[in-house]
Amino acid sequence: MATHFSPCSSSSSSSLTFSSEFTVCKPRRYCFSKWVSQVRPRIHARNHFRIKSSNGHPLNAVSMQEGLFGLGMDGTPLAEGIKPEEQEIFLDFSDSEKVQSTLSITVVGASGDLAKKKIFPALFALYYEDCLPENFMVFGYARTKLTNEELRNMISGTLTCRIDKRANCEDKMEQFLKRCFYHSGQYNSEEHFAELDSKLKEKEAGKLSNRLFYLSIPPNIFVDVVRCASLKASAANGWTRVIVEKPFGRDSESSAELTRCLKQYLTEDQIFRIDHYLGKELVENLSVLRFSNLVFEPLWSRNYIRNVQLIFSEDFGTEGRGGYFDNYGIIRDIMQNHLLQILALFAMETPVSLEAEDIRNEKVKVLRSMRPLQLEDVIVGQYKGHNKGGKIYPGYTDDSTVPNNSLTPTFAAAALFINNARWDGVPFLMKAGKALHTRRAEIRVQFRHVPGNLYKQNFGTDLDKATNELVLRVQPDEAIYLKVNNKVPGLGMRLDRSDLNLLYRARYPKEIPDAYERLLLDAIAGERRLFIRSDELDAAWSLFTPLLRELEENKIFPELYPYGSRGPVGAHYLAAKYNVRWGDLSGEDSQE
Ligand code: BG6
Repeated sequence: MATHFSPCSSSSSSSLTFSSEFTVCKPRRYCFSKWVSQVRPRIHARNHFRIKSSNGHPLNAVSMQEGLFGLGMDGTPLAEGIKPEEQEIFLDFSDSEKVQSTLSITVVGASGDLAKKKIFPALFALYYEDCLPENFMVFGYARTKLTNEELRNMISGTLTCRIDKRANCEDKMEQFLKRCFYHSGQYNSEEHFAELDSKLKEKEAGKLSNRLFYLSIPPNIFVDVVRCASLKASAANGWTRVIVEKPFGRDSESSAELTRCLKQYLTEDQIFRIDHYLGKELVENLSVLRFSNLVFEPLWSRNYIRNVQLIFSEDFGTEGRGGYFDNYGIIRDIMQNHLLQILALFAMETPVSLEAEDIRNEKVKVLRSMRPLQLEDVIVGQYKGHNKGGKIYPGYTDDSTVPNNSLTPTFAAAALFINNARWDGVPFLMKAGKALHTRRAEIRVQFRHVPGNLYKQNFGTDLDKATNELVLRVQPDEAIYLKVNNKVPGLGMRLDRSDLNLLYRARYPKEIPDAYERLLLDAIAGERRLFIRSDELDAAWSLFTPLLRELEENKIFPELYPYGSRGPVGAHYLAAKYNVRWGDLSGEDSQE
């Protein structure tokens, strides 16, 4: 079944451009990063409000692109005497300035699962942490007829005080809910979006307005919504941005068509294509680990790294999502985006800076250097029903929304290669599956043998067991650990493999924010680093489209694996072909 994107309307005007980096409002406590003010702030070297962006850059990181780096908002140099590393901007707004702008976040598809489970809770968490500006409001938009009160009831059940159980949690929730409103409308009705616009305007009360639309809707209505929203509900005098959730098409052609259609109404700068894996703490940390530790960066190449493994597994099936999933399959759902994005970040060359465009330029280079994927380097699987301990686990095709004869893979493993000097010949193995024995996402880096290892007789015949392995456990229970060879204390010389283990919950007591919180905050701040640029998307699809076509045209039958197992045995043969052993299978792994 093909996905149909609604055709772009030819009657539309060309790209509507909006002033891109306008002001927002009152910066709050410590959290908000880039409240770039259009009004002239006074610059104070006092610790009343520090602005930091999520990449650790000062607020003016965005401004840098616009020629303002190192300058105050009025174009004058930053306060004298502040060293570059201390160049956080201190802004002080007058009372009238504080109340001059508004931010609205419209969640389109407000009654959907993602909105309820992730977006509203993330917005509340940001509010709870004082990360949202003073004048913000949240609008839910969907077809279902609901009152404001009904929307509030619906979302209140999913809000939690994430960080701690402070006494004021209930109050905070109430205050947050008071800022949530609902508008019911069709997704393709300009008239209904015009009504939304009136409601927004009423609440904006003539202030400078910035509007963020979060599209939490099926892809076949992306373009309709963007058309209606941009034509009828764009901010009149501030920025308008749109967060789009995957799937961004299902192959190169449909993705390019979607981009073309979106760009009839939006500029690239206004489109924030979200890949929530980029908002995960450990994925964020990947570059820090590599680029700010001398012990890693020099090793980051084919000279020392033998293979890299990107592993995603879930211990549940497509429960309830079979209808969506059957049209996409695990390769489009996880590999083409989440795992490939991690691969690109992992393998990129050192970017010129931490600016969004510099990082995305490097990621694109990696993606465009990938060797075309061969069918023989991919194996696909599908879970089947399983009876364990008296409990029956359904097979994929037992889902009533999935055709009985579906060949859609719920598991895939692939060997990928990057044709460049740094990574020539190094297998990047990906593995992703649903209904497996565990829920886990991790990056594993297996290093080469120690040449002429003095202790090799201590490892028996299996020298592979003696190689170092670096593991970034993205979830659950975030950790970074390095497997090293170590002498077992005592007389004699016995070696074992131990972990140097940075377990986050032991080291950092504070709860880790959800990926959606980081990404929403960045979108509000105009920080694009963690969002997918259209050329990245094109490159990602170019890699996977021929393979997907081949799998589908040749009706490749997926290898069946029992629900709750470790997946198809074919994945082991694939790894073995490249002399690799999946790291997550070793009994000594600290998670096992
Ligand atoms: C989504 C996929 O992008 O990521 C889902 O569509 C998957 O199929 C989900 O379950 C996994 O996200 P997380 O954050 O729970 O690992």
